[in-house]
Amino acid sequence: MEIGYSVIIYTILVLMLVSYVFMRKHKRKFNGKLRLPPGSMGLPYIGETLQLYSQDPNVFFTNKQKRYGEIFKTHILGCPCVMLASPEAARFVLVKQAHLFKPTYPRSKERMIGPSALFFTQGDYHMRIRKLVQSCLSPEALRAIVPEIERIVVSMLDSLDHGQVINTFHTMKKLSFDVGILTIFGGKLEERYKVELKKNYFIVDKGYNSFPTNIPWTLYNRAIQARKRLSEILSEIMHERRKKGEVEKDLLGCLMESRDEKGELQLNDEQISDNIIGVLFAAQDTTASVLTWILKYLGEDPKLLEAVKVEQMGIYETNECGSQPLTWAQTRSMTLTNRVILETLRMASIISFTFREAVADVEYKGFLIPKGWKVMPLFRNIHHNPDFFSEPDKFDPSRFMNAPKPNTFLPFGSGVHACPGNELAKLEILILVHHLVTKYRFEVVGYQTEIEYGPFPVPRHGLPARLRRAPGPSA
Ligand code: HEM
Repeated sequence: MEIGYSVIIYTILVLMLVSYVFMRKHKRKFNGKLRLPPGSMGLPYIGETLQLYSQDPNVFFTNKQKRYGEIFKTHILGCPCVMLASPEAARFVLVKQAHLFKPTYPRSKERMIGPSALFFTQGDYHMRIRKLVQSCLSPEALRAIVPEIERIVVSMLDSLDHGQVINTFHTMKKLSFDVGILTIFGGKLEERYKVELKKNYFIVDKGYNSFPTNIPWTLYNRAIQARKRLSEILSEIMHERRKKGEVEKDLLGCLMESRDEKGELQLNDEQISDNIIGVLFAAQDTTASVLTWILKYLGEDPKLLEAVKVEQMGIYETNECGSQPLTWAQTRSMTLTNRVILETLRMASIISFTFREAVADVEYKGFLIPKGWKVMPLFRNIHHNPDFFSEPDKFDPSRFMNAPKPNTFLPFGSGVHACPGNELAKLEILILVHHLVTKYRFEVVGYQTEIEYGPFPVPRHGLPARLRRAPGPSA
């Protein structure tokens, strides 16, 4: 017992000494000219991790911002961090001086998705892949898949057990997965591949946020095994395409066919797999969370729901009560629904912040951001700042009748790593809302105020709800 206490005390002393030496080093280097941002680093090593995780993380960030201003330091999960809550600071890190800040993720996450995926990389390789992904998710490319997204939405809504309580978030996850598969593999992927991809992807998804202990039977270990299987399935699909000489215009096709100036293929199968799995990951929970929030906000505001319904009914009737397919042009004319989506993105701010790491000592407004420190632009704080969005806690889509001030609305990030899937996500949401409000009644079960983080915020229990066919011509 006594030995145990001695070891703990000894460890704490060593950690305090290491922290002290680290701070001294930075103080000396800048000779007092630059100072670290205000803030507190908490206890040695554990820093303020407990404070952050024992409450709603947004309360932690907001309290810090109130106390220290728009740039402050803290220490979480073993890393010293600088948090930035102003639009200029977010622009500095993500756009203007992006080369001084590299993307950074825990090793376990990088391993799970694949180290060659877009989000983990920088420089030429990143730009090459990004161009390919952007071209497959551009408005021109999306225009062509509107009918197929609509088919997925209609069949998902039809398949639900009407009248039974559903978990909205889980239901929306299935939808966003299917739309992801469509974007990546086009409409022609064999059913057996879809089933295998889905099965293994959901095992990876379950283990992604689990504790990273790679011993048999843990969620993490199962996820790693499923991740290997995903690579094998993708190799099989690529092999078959090559054998048949098929050249497709979907994302897989773009990645497989990309060539350099000399006409040589640019990517190997592993790089392609990492990026396919990366896109599936980036597309699924994000879109599903926003879909869940939009249904919650609409459910809580009958007047707004009615106005959205009027907008959508106009299109529905033009399309002869749904017997004609929705067109790209019609999705562009859904002005109010689009504003509801933007306001949902702001209010829910499902990606509250992002992480970067300083690759050199950087000066920002007289403060030092030391090399190796994590840097976190706080999107949610910016979206909830009354200087940029009046009455920020009120859900008010009309605020988007005027464009927000520059760099104050960042639901899809900004700069070289900004989300290339933003138009697809919005299109998917528009199509879902169209079919939901014109043909169904959606009723949230119970009054929902609590939020779960998994890791994106969603209403508690995934927003239990009932869906019923609306009486009328389509019933
Ligand atoms: C409403 C849904 C979505 C939200 C809120 C969202 C948000 C974001 C944000 C904030 C980033 C930047 C992260 C950073 O800078 O660290 C990002 C990156 C990314 N997103 Fe999305 N996203 C959504 C849907 C999608 C979809 C549907 C796809 C693909 C089909 C997608 C693919 C990606 C990819 C590949 C990246 C990495 C880009 C890069 O590193 O260059 N996202 N997303």
